[in-house]
Amino acid sequence: MKPTAGGAAQLLAISDLHIGYPENRALVERMRPVTDDDWLLVAGDVAETVADIRWTLDTLAGRFRKVVWVPGNHELWTHPSDSVTLRGVARYEHLVELCRELGVTTPEDPYPVWEGPGGPVAVAPLFTLYDYSFLPAGCATKEEGLEYARGTGIVCNDEYLLHPDPYPSREAWCRARVAETERRLAELPGELPVIPVNHYPLDRHPTDVLWYPEFAMWCGTTLTADWHRRFRVHTMVYGHLHIPRTTWHEGVRFEEVSVGYPREWRKRPGTPGRLRRILPGEGEER
Ligand SMILES: [Fe+2]
Ligand SMILES: [Fe+2]
Repeated sequence: MKPTAGGAAQLLAISDLHIGYPENRALVERMRPVTDDDWLLVAGDVAETVADIRWTLDTLAGRFRKVVWVPGNHELWTHPSDSVTLRGVARYEHLVELCRELGVTTPEDPYPVWEGPGGPVAVAPLFTLYDYSFLPAGCATKEEGLEYARGTGIVCNDEYLLHPDPYPSREAWCRARVAETERRLAELPGELPVIPVNHYPLDRHPTDVLWYPEFAMWCGTTLTADWHRRFRVHTMVYGHLHIPRTTWHEGVRFEEVSVGYPREWRKRPGTPGRLRRILPGEGEER
């Protein structure tokens, strides 16, 4: 790993904080920037309730120069434990308003440009959801995939809690988000590299190592499979899979930056809740 220049600002990332777990809340309480100018990218799954999301983003926004957030599926759940009962787009818009109040950047804002070490790079918070196109082997349609998943018992809670209102389905919401996001990314200056931040990987390859491959249906969309080639992607930052690691795909670095549940991070070596450095790049010497 290259040493960071003394005092140079860092672009850091984390996701899947799941602070409903007290152990994970404690990790957030300890999270600090390395320098006064560090940015933090938060790639979704902060918590299920608006109160917990507010606490987390408020805490982090008070410590980092800039915090960028994208929604995970857990933020979009209408969870029975939340006093906020909004569904679908209305819930998402409520969270965007909350972020505006806290000074946190969302997918609805202009893409900020990181001018620190490794820059200039546009940071593009994305919200593209999923459309069941990452089908299990041997399945040709969403219906076949879901039937298979019901057979194995691996069905994402989104089926019961993530409402697409006013869209007729989560995949319709996904298609609308993908079209709008594609339009915005295409407007970026051609020479400017971009770091997309999305809860889901833009390419399917990270799901190849899932313990339950059928879970991939809730992990992204094939509609974004060529974006890392089309949009000068420097590094693709994502979470959701709870398999933190770095992969290289067609010359592009993909970083899963998730913390995950205590039962998951306790088994891993290293410091739990460690912020992942995106720029200057770990592993760029490869
Ligand atoms: Fe998660
Ligand atoms: Fe997730």
